Amino acid sequence: MTAIETINGRRVWDSRGNPTVEVDVVLQNGVRGRAIAPAGASRGRREAVDLRDGGTGLRGMDVRRALGNVNGPIAAALAGRDADDQAGADAALRRLDPSPMFEVLGGNATVATSLAVLNAAAADARKPLWRHIADHYGTGPRLPLPEIQIFGGGAHARERIDIQDLMIMVPGATSFDEVMEVTSAVYFAAGDIMAAKGRLAGIADEGGWWPLFDSNEEALETLIAAIEMAGETPGERVVISLDIAASEFGRNGRYRLALEDCDMDTGAMIDMLGRWLDAYPIASIEDPLGEDDVAGTIEFTRRFGDRVQIIGDDYLVTNAGLVEAAAEAGACNAVLVKVNQAGTVSAAVATFAAARARGWGAVVSARSGETEDVAISHLSTGLGGGQLKVGAFQRSERMVKWNECLRIQDELGADAFVGGAPLAATWWGRDNRKGTT
Ligand code: PGA
Ligand code: ZN
Repeated sequence: MTAIETINGRRVWDSRGNPTVEVDVVLQNGVRGRAIAPAGASRGRREAVDLRDGGTGLRGMDVRRALGNVNGPIAAALAGRDADDQAGADAALRRLDPSPMFEVLGGNATVATSLAVLNAAAADARKPLWRHIADHYGTGPRLPLPEIQIFGGGAHARERIDIQDLMIMVPGATSFDEVMEVTSAVYFAAGDIMAAKGRLAGIADEGGWWPLFDSNEEALETLIAAIEMAGETPGERVVISLDIAASEFGRNGRYRLALEDCDMDTGAMIDMLGRWLDAYPIASIEDPLGEDDVAGTIEFTRRFGDRVQIIGDDYLVTNAGLVEAAAEAGACNAVLVKVNQAGTVSAAVATFAAARARGWGAVVSARSGETEDVAISHLSTGLGGGQLKVGAFQRSERMVKWNECLRIQDELGADAFVGGAPLAATWWGRDNRKGTT
């Protein structure tokens, strides 16, 4: 065993220019591990708290309290512990703050600490992080199937359109390199289309094109046009993935698309999404209904769960217990795994495992506020058989994650790419050409 000697938190800055928590863990033999907490903008109500100082300085976003927790009680509780005992370190964090959402320590303090411990243990074992994760938790390392954003929306684009993420997946690719090439072509085709319409207006928070559209469906039509302009047949090698993030515009069973000035109840919302599933080759859809609309999510899953991956993000907040309850109730068939929603590596891994044990998909995901931290590329590879959602095909806090997967591919071999397998139960289980649903 190698014991933790010191834990040191410092303030660094994320991709939106907000302060965030970085943690260095140094072991008694001098080996180090480092991690940075990301930050969401469309947050689930039940996810781990992103502890901010409030007040007027730095728009209330400073993290001095969270850093004080790292350098004070957390450092004291973890010093002397075996770095390779991740479960023990995470349990110690839990004992310090038993509140379900880490309201006392802050999920930003705990997630950076937990991931830094993991990195230190991997470094101490002289293993790349993905290998360390695979050896501890995995079923065999596989490079994930990416979901890559082409247009940003919702909370990442000042609600310019209501839908949050319009993405593509390339389940028909045979290598991770091929995914990158196809995505590059679609991404730049989408930019060219926007420019030709006089609607190129920069990018949203995760690097997707700014959504200067007159309706939400125009965004979908433009995505189809971009896929075609890139030389692809929508629904063959390339499919669409959406994050509706419906909690952002739906409450108490009412959904309001501001762009179309359209007010709907749950049934009308489900019907509208069903029409989209019929009209477009959508293989995956995240948070189709609000996080409080469990009955709606169950109904949506009953109607469409055999033909589309239905991911719970705000609804399930990387919580194994919520995944188990949702699976029992027949709500969703996949979960988004964001380590900072759970607050610790152990809880995130348990969520991934709970999903896979029920035959669900599991998508490891970045947040809209990101940094140079690449742990999620390793996590999705190490856990195996999964998917990875990082944002768009632009901006280094996004590209660094895709590039890290390419480096892992060099070590692991190109045939370690999982391909379309994660969508096998839904997309590849039916005739997937447009208009044949
Ligand atoms: P967030 O959203 O990181 O801004 O909360 C990402 C997502 O909804 O998947
Ligand atoms: Zn989401």
